[in-house]
Amino acid sequence: MAQEDFPTIELRYGLSDKDFNRLARFIQTECGIQMPPSKKSLVTARLQKRLRILKMESFTDYVDWVLDPSAAGEELINFIDIITTNKTDFFREPGHFDFMTKEALPDLLNRHQAGLRRPVQIWSAPCSTGEEPYTMAIVLLEFAENKKIPSYKGQILGTDLSTRALKHGQNAVYDMERVATLPASLKKKYMLRSRDPNTPRVKMGPELRQMVRFQHLNFMDSSYNISQAMDIIFCRNCLIYFDRPTTEAIVNKLCRHLAPGGYFFVGHSETLNNLKVPVTQVAPTIYQLPQRG
Ligand SMILES: C[S@@+](CC[C@H](N)C(=O)[O-])C[C@H]1O[C@@H](n2cnc3c(N)ncnc32)[C@H](O)[C@@H]1O
Repeated sequence: MAQEDFPTIELRYGLSDKDFNRLARFIQTECGIQMPPSKKSLVTARLQKRLRILKMESFTDYVDWVLDPSAAGEELINFIDIITTNKTDFFREPGHFDFMTKEALPDLLNRHQAGLRRPVQIWSAPCSTGEEPYTMAIVLLEFAENKKIPSYKGQILGTDLSTRALKHGQNAVYDMERVATLPASLKKKYMLRSRDPNTPRVKMGPELRQMVRFQHLNFMDSSYNISQAMDIIFCRNCLIYFDRPTTEAIVNKLCRHLAPGGYFFVGHSETLNNLKVPVTQVAPTIYQLPQRG
């Protein structure tokens, strides 16, 4: 919705340092996300839009409401959606998908018959609006076709803190411009075009959708409600928000769900070096849990 569509409400005061600090403490405890003072203007701009929608005039009233335990987190979901950055893309950091195709999937197939005797298990954590898990599904299907293994199977789990982002992923509908740079052959094979010329959108095809499921998960939870052992975990472009002890704790919790010999990917500007974690580096930004025995 364009800003002009909102009724104009004069905000009485800006976001005070005190209220910003209350929010920053809360978001760090609940979500692990660091909100240094340098983020204040960004947070203020995002909250201003929310206050206009709610027709609220005071930031303090808003902060009181978000932090009020008796309001049972009524506004908390919206607030988390406002402050998290969901930037993502299909085939983002494409070197990782090349590594999957050329190294990880063949290795998992040879050693554990992963994909043949049982589905190869992949976790996109966090998955944001779904582009990453759907890219993984395309990579698996292309791998099966190129290797001529029609019985090859894979399952992908996408988890995120943001309910809005998860809903988008589940819906599986994207603006056409989001897939503009993908090869036409992949779009034709795996995606459906909307019939309405006024809304140029694509929907992920049924083959992709049936491989991907979404689940809400906060990295700050003491343990993760995930039953399968994962062959591959992508934890990309999120660790940058956390301080070192939080990152170490999250990676250790994620690695409890990684099968021996499983691969762990981080974003190109992230590293696990100098952290006490059970995986060892096999390529830049790619790690592996040692095989058993
Ligand atoms: C920039 S996106 C990265 C998405 C994808 N992995 C990629 O690289 O394109 C970061 C995501 O981290 C999620 N996030 C932030 N804090 C989180 C937490 N405590 N638990 C789970 N997800 C979190 C946000 O909701 C957001 O969708």
